[in-house]
Order: sequence, then structure tokens, then C-alpha cells
Amino acid sequence: MTVIDHLSKIEELRLKRAQSHEGGGVDRQKKQKEGNRHTAHERLDVLLDPGSFRELDAFAQHRVNDFGMDKKKYLGDSVVTGWGTINGHLVYVFSQDFTVIGGSLSEVHAEKICKVMDMALKTGAPVIGLNDSGGARIQEGVLSLAGYAEIFLRNTMSSGVVPQVSLIMGPCAGGAVYSPALTDFVIMVQDSSYMYITGPDVVKTVTHEDVTHEELGGASVHASKSGVCHLVADNEQQALLLARELMSYLPQNNMEDPPFVPTNDDPLRADPELDKIIPDNPNKPYDMKDVIKKVVDDGVFFEIHENFAMNIVVGFARLGGHSVGIVANQPAVLAGVLDIDASEKAARFVRFCDAFNVPIVTFVDVPGYMPGTAQEYGGIIRAGAKLLYAYCEATVPKLTVTTRKSYGGAYCVMSSKHLRGDLNLAWPTAEIAVMGPDGAVGIIFRREIETAEDPVAKKAELTNDYREKFASPYSAAERGYIDDIIEPRETRARLINGLEVFQNKRDSNPARKHGNIPL
Ligand code: HXC
Repeated sequence: MTVIDHLSKIEELRLKRAQSHEGGGVDRQKKQKEGNRHTAHERLDVLLDPGSFRELDAFAQHRVNDFGMDKKKYLGDSVVTGWGTINGHLVYVFSQDFTVIGGSLSEVHAEKICKVMDMALKTGAPVIGLNDSGGARIQEGVLSLAGYAEIFLRNTMSSGVVPQVSLIMGPCAGGAVYSPALTDFVIMVQDSSYMYITGPDVVKTVTHEDVTHEELGGASVHASKSGVCHLVADNEQQALLLARELMSYLPQNNMEDPPFVPTNDDPLRADPELDKIIPDNPNKPYDMKDVIKKVVDDGVFFEIHENFAMNIVVGFARLGGHSVGIVANQPAVLAGVLDIDASEKAARFVRFCDAFNVPIVTFVDVPGYMPGTAQEYGGIIRAGAKLLYAYCEATVPKLTVTTRKSYGGAYCVMSSKHLRGDLNLAWPTAEIAVMGPDGAVGIIFRREIETAEDPVAKKAELTNDYREKFASPYSAAERGYIDDIIEPRETRARLINGLEVFQNKRDSNPARKHGNIPL
């Protein structure tokens, strides 16, 4: 064959691929779109900067010919892979094509994904996966299982080296959910994406449960109950735009800093509203998200895990143009108590920030760990230790603002000075003590109260004494555990200053194979 012959053969293949445009053909595309879903290429068009996508392995085809698979060959098989840019930054992508054999993962499909994952690790760029797959391709048997295992290995090797983001764009089952579970962030689409080990039909056969796709693994379930999903979008377009926004806070890899985004928001901006935000009654809640939004650049807070363990708030924001990870107790939900889910949610976020050089800003208002049998049986000791571990090992700049309560073990865990907190600030309303006045007085003065002429009056008097002595930031500040007591209005300026001071800090952990976080 001459070069011209070769070129025309390639052109012919390209034309064939363009005509089929989305491997599965017109009917399957139509079915796909009926479910408010888009094709693999259309999704990439929204995710990536216009015209930046370069496809790889468009001519690959699966190799198995049994079970009628010789008649089901599609150019590119059931996944589209390649690279492109988001806000000008290189990202590697794969987009599974449900119109081709249910997006199921063949040996070749896995090889294509592994290729871009290897490239991403080599060049230090994030990987974004658009998942829409029935899992391991049943007709390929162990070859497809091997393919998944190869992907899982790469997910794990890439963890903490390059950011990995998964979007769930359709029904994802089997291996198609374990790879996302190994990545840093999972984004789901309301009412059209599902994640489960196996779909409702198999569930019915095995456990005799009648359950819908939505009940079994819909976005709401995973965003609020299981915590598998970090961000929920109303539709596919929004999910893809959320992924773009998320990337704007993240560095390309663990050796780089997150992008700096200049802002017109004055770094010295004081917000007098903050001086009034804490209610006089210590048991009255307020919304910590109001505090966060008043402090960060332009009031923009990109919340992660918004509907899961709402007693703690985590997410990204910028301070003076620098990307920061925010962790904040939420007094408006369960008084901001730390329970199993809250500890795990925050621990995972702290570890992500630490791995990718994102400074952590912690807002503290926490009455303690949640007591009771449900929590003890569920392993609050183990889960609570995860958050301790995460804060202890983190070496990124750690800035802390205690707004109100900081009691007991929760004082220790929430980025305290003792865990290498770099700048620990407190508002004058902060109460730092072993426990709240009521509980403390009931324990240490039980006898005095019982034998008093007027126990109620005695308890009130002792509680007041206790509050004056302990329920303040002063005894912590006396010992340097709090670096400064600040006016709430100056929080933004003080944090931005702290970030600048500590941006080049150096902290390290002992050399070891890896630590043993209590999983
Ligand atoms: C081969 C598959 C497939 C699969 C779907 N298809 N999943 N082909 N292997 N795993 C095919 C269907 O046969 C069908 O082909 C087409 O894709 C579309 O699927 P439908 O069932 O018509 O679509 P829908 O009704 O939307 O249901 C989607 C689904 C369902 C819920 C994902 O297909 C399903 O339950 N699939 C099996 C899921 C599963 O149990 N996977 C686990 C595999 S084991 P035709 O030609 O009829 O249109 C695994 C282990 C990995 O992944 C290791 C983990 C550690």
C-alpha cells in the first residue's frame, strides 16, 4: 500500500467513526438522550475548553469474538479517551459510552483508560472520568475483571499525586463504582445517575428486595446517606460545570500550588456584621456558613458534601486569591457536635488538602464528640481518631478561628495548637474548656449543690463562676495555645496575613512506609 492508500484508509475509518458518532449508533443515541443524558463526546465538549480535546485510541476495538461479539465491534469500543484543557490547564479524560454495549468495560476499554492514567501520572496532570457503565463486560470474563484491577491499581498509585475526579453520568454498577470510590471527588446527576454494586434486578434475585434505581443508588442517597457522592448537580451540564469549577481550586499535582486567582475583594475588608453574629445565649445556634461567606473572597464558598453530615461543613474558597480548604463546625445542625460521619467527612477533606498543598482554615464551634450507644457501637472512637490523625499529620498551613464553644476532645482535634496549628485565633466569645458550664458544675460541685439550702440558686452561682473562669479564650491565650484574641470583624484580614506568613512553612513527618490511619 502506498502512503496515499494508507491515508485514505485512515480517512475512511475517521469518516466511519464520525458517522456513527457515538459508537452505539443512532437508535441507541436516541435512547440515551431520552433519559436526559448526553453522548460521551457531547459531555467532553462541555467539560473541556472549546477545541482543546485530542482523542486517543479512536480506532481501538475489542478482541473477544465469542457470544456474538464479532458482530458488536465499534471503533473506539465503549469509551472515549484523550486530553484537553480546563481553564487552560491540562487534564486527561475518559468518557464511557453507554450506547456501546452499555459502556461495559472490556479489556481494550480498560487499556484505553490505563493509558491516559499513566500519561497523567507521568506528566503530573489531573484525571477526570465520566462514568456511564454497566461494569465489567460479562462476555469478556476475567479479562474485564483484570482490566478493572489494572484501573484500581492506577487509581491508588495516583492518589495524592494527581487529583482524580469522577462524574457519574448514568447507571454505574460493579467495577464502575469502585474506581470512582478510589478517586478524590464524586459528582452525581440528580435523577439520572446511579451507583450500586449491582442493579435492582440482581438485588431482587439475591435479597428479594424490591427497590428502584433511585432508592438503591440515586444521587440523593449517596449525597446524604452513604456519603459516597461529594457534589450533586440538577443536570449533566451543571455536573460538568461543577467539575470545571472544582478544578479551579486544585493544583495540577502534589508538587504544585493551587492556581492563584486575583480578586478585587480588599484583603483588609472588615465586616462589622461578624461582631454581632454570635447570639448572646450560648445554646442558640447560628449558621457557620454565614461566617465563612463574610470572610472569604467575594463571598464564594464551594461546598463539598453539602448534604452529608451537615454538622460539619467542608469546602473550598479563596482568601486574598489563594485557594484554601475550609473545615467548620456547624452549630446550626446538632449543635455542631462531632459524630462518626462528620469525623470521616472532615478527615477525608483534610487529607485531600494536605496531599495537594491547599492550606486549611478551621472554624471552631463544637460542644464535643457525640455520646451514646448508637455512636459507640458504630465506632465513634475509631472514626473520631481519623480526624485527629488527619489534622496531626497535615503539614500544610493550618489556621484556626475559634468562634464559640471548643470543649473537650473536640478542642484537641479541631486544628489545635498542639496538633501543629500554625495560627490559632479566637473571638472574644470563645469558650475553651473541658466541658460546658452546666455539665462541669454538675460533676465537680455535685455534693455542694445537693447539700445547699437552695440547690437551684447554688448551681446558678457556681455555673456563673465557672463561666467566668473557664468559658472564655483567656486561659488558653495565657498559655499561648491561642495566639491572639481578635475582633470578629478583622477575621478576613488576619487570616490572609496568616496565609502569607505561613505559605512557605516547612513541617515534616518521620520517614516511614506509611502511617496506619484507623480505617
Ligand atoms: C455486558 C452489558 C453489561 C455488562 C449492560 N450491558 N451491562 N453488557 N456486560 N456488564 C448491555 C445490556 O445487555 C444491553 O445490551 C445494554 O448494555 C444496555 O443495558 P440495559 O440493561 O438495557 O440498560 P438499563 O436498563 O439502563 O440498565 C443498566 C444497568 C443494567 C442497570 C447498568 O444493564 C445492569 O444491571 N447491568 C449489569 C450490572 C452489573 O451487575 N454489573 C456488574 C458486573 S461485575 P442490549 O444489546 O440488550 O441493548 C463487575 C465486577 C468488577 O463489574 C469488579 C469489582 C471489584
